Amino acid sequence: MRHEQLADEALARVVSAAGLEVPDSRQAWEWRLQCALPWPVFDGYRRRRDACFAAAEDAGDVARSASVNDEFFAFVSTHPDLCRHFAAGRLGYYDALLAKVADRVRGAPHARILDLGSFAGLSTLYLGAAFPGSRVVGVERHQGAVAVAEDARRRTGIANVSFACADYAEFDAGPFDAVVSLQAMPAYLIPWLPSERPEDYSRGSNADAALGAPDATVLAVERAAAAVRRLLAAGGRAVLHERVVGLARALFFHRLLARAGLEVSDIRWADWHSVSQRDVVQSFPLVVATASGGAARADEAAIIALYSLPPSGPDLAGLPDAHAVTYSDFQAHAAFAALPASRDEVGIRMGLADGRRMHGYFGVADGRWAYIYRCDTCDERKLSVGHRNIAPALFRTGLDELGRLMATGQPVHCDPPFDTFRYRVRKHFKVKD
Ligand SMILES: C[S@@+](CC[C@H](N)C(=O)[O-])C[C@H]1O[C@@H](n2cnc3c(N)ncnc32)[C@H](O)[C@@H]1O
Repeated sequence: MRHEQLADEALARVVSAAGLEVPDSRQAWEWRLQCALPWPVFDGYRRRRDACFAAAEDAGDVARSASVNDEFFAFVSTHPDLCRHFAAGRLGYYDALLAKVADRVRGAPHARILDLGSFAGLSTLYLGAAFPGSRVVGVERHQGAVAVAEDARRRTGIANVSFACADYAEFDAGPFDAVVSLQAMPAYLIPWLPSERPEDYSRGSNADAALGAPDATVLAVERAAAAVRRLLAAGGRAVLHERVVGLARALFFHRLLARAGLEVSDIRWADWHSVSQRDVVQSFPLVVATASGGAARADEAAIIALYSLPPSGPDLAGLPDAHAVTYSDFQAHAAFAALPASRDEVGIRMGLADGRRMHGYFGVADGRWAYIYRCDTCDERKLSVGHRNIAPALFRTGLDELGRLMATGQPVHCDPPFDTFRYRVRKHFKVKD
């Protein structure tokens, strides 16, 4: 990729002035990295990068995630050439994100802008170039990265930017009109919480409990959110793009922001890919939050709407005659909610050994549509729906499936007992063996 291949011309100018090469491909970038670095440095980089990927896949071990991430950036920052190359590997990210970030900053006062976790300084320099009348500060905890950023600042001649070496949670040069954080909060520590009820996505009382007795992971994210709020001037605006994976974590992240006094006013998907990140397209929400006086309101509905498809009903008229159609996840949730309200239904509640709670419904809507709906507190949902005439076959298959689940020993609690439920379904809907 040459500079002119960056979609964002303003970014291309900053990158060219900073003397960075734009990688053509992941292979070319890795090859250049390997050629430019002494072997122990390249090898150390590769081992730490693989440890980060492995920890991200094994999201259960959050403490390991935190330490390998910290260690990775500490290592990259101690080697200026590696730091510059790694920044070049992130250009796909900057190309996809920075114009959107600048748009959000532009929409409100922005005389003083702070970029948290500024690494090699490219996002900070971009903001400096985009807002020449503003003062832009990048804060980064690794001195080596700050030195690389300062060198890039000298090369670009962007005079309204400065860098500080500090932990942003202790940085006290504020307040700022805009605080930007691009993957600089420890979002990988956000705990995964089950939903309050199988039918809903809301984390409600489960989030209350996690906030009432916060563990070390919750405290670490809270510390970052509190720093953003503390550094924001009254009426200021935070622009955040963090690696928040999945709806459950997004809902809890927004509770943490609200508790810190940050009210989310806008949230949209922002896709990106970069050669330093396995080059797959990734998508995380770009969030705008404003500073509120005390604790802010967390609007779960807005987050759920962002993660789910627009609720649309199943095409009942277009259902095939002889078999059911199955919806899963968010589509199942929306389709179940949109079934006709007149329902003749038999339900079962199960508690599973892994702590999940699952509800199952076998029913007929409007006398015409037979359905089975299963949902649990881990956001797993499945709706099978067909014409009334297939009810016996559909329900027989559904009972067999539940019977197999019972046989695994996973359900530790059933209300009513499974045999009673099976008897009711068979009798009520005239299901024969
Ligand atoms: C994933 S990188 C993102 C860097 C940059 N924002 C970008 O988009 O390329 C995270 C950076 O934030 C820095 N960082 C993380 N926590 C920090 C803290 N509490 N104070 C200062 N810097 C921090 C790390 O050292 C690292 O350079």
